[in-house]
Amino acid sequence: MPLLPTLSTFFIVLSAVLVAIGWVLIVKDRRDPHRKVMIAAAVSALTFFIIYLSRTIVVGNTSFGGPDDIKIFYTIFLIFHIFLATVGAVFGIVTLVLAFKRKIGRHRRVGPVTSVIWFCTAVTGVAVYLLLYIIYDGGTTTSMIKAILGG
Ligand code: HEM
Repeated sequence: MPLLPTLSTFFIVLSAVLVAIGWVLIVKDRRDPHRKVMIAAAVSALTFFIIYLSRTIVVGNTSFGGPDDIKIFYTIFLIFHIFLATVGAVFGIVTLVLAFKRKIGRHRRVGPVTSVIWFCTAVTGVAVYLLLYIIYDGGTTTSMIKAILGG
């Protein structure tokens, strides 16, 4: 099991679980726990992003090592996951800002959308992780720094 991808995938899953718990809490009108758990979810998502970004810069990205005829489906799926993660991050920031500005009406409307996008991000993220490292052996890893320095 590769250490950094396993760790970053763990943090995506953790943040999705925390969002689910935070949703249940606000349905039960437990406001302070909702706030704390959702902030923890955001910190967990940020931790994922920091690990992912450091690995991309220092170690690099790993290419798909599975069969060639599946590669195109993997690539489309990966792009879909990246799209979800990007939209989810923007929605997450908007949801948090609305909460902190106490625009609770809009926060309530955007919150469920953000949560569902984030659940889909986590599920597709785990699938990418499984396809890239567990079901098949990862392909070559190219470092961004190596690429820049020509090493
Ligand atoms: C599932 C959909 C969501 C609903 C229905 C919802 C609903 C609410 C409501 C009603 C409040 C006001 C509580 C109060 O009056 O003190 C609140 C506060 C808050 N929510 Fe959400 N929320 C949702 C999702 C989220 C998400 C995804 C996040 C984080 C990304 C989040 C972060 C917060 C925070 C930080 C506060 C506290 C704001 C403050 O007290 O300054 N919520 N939410």
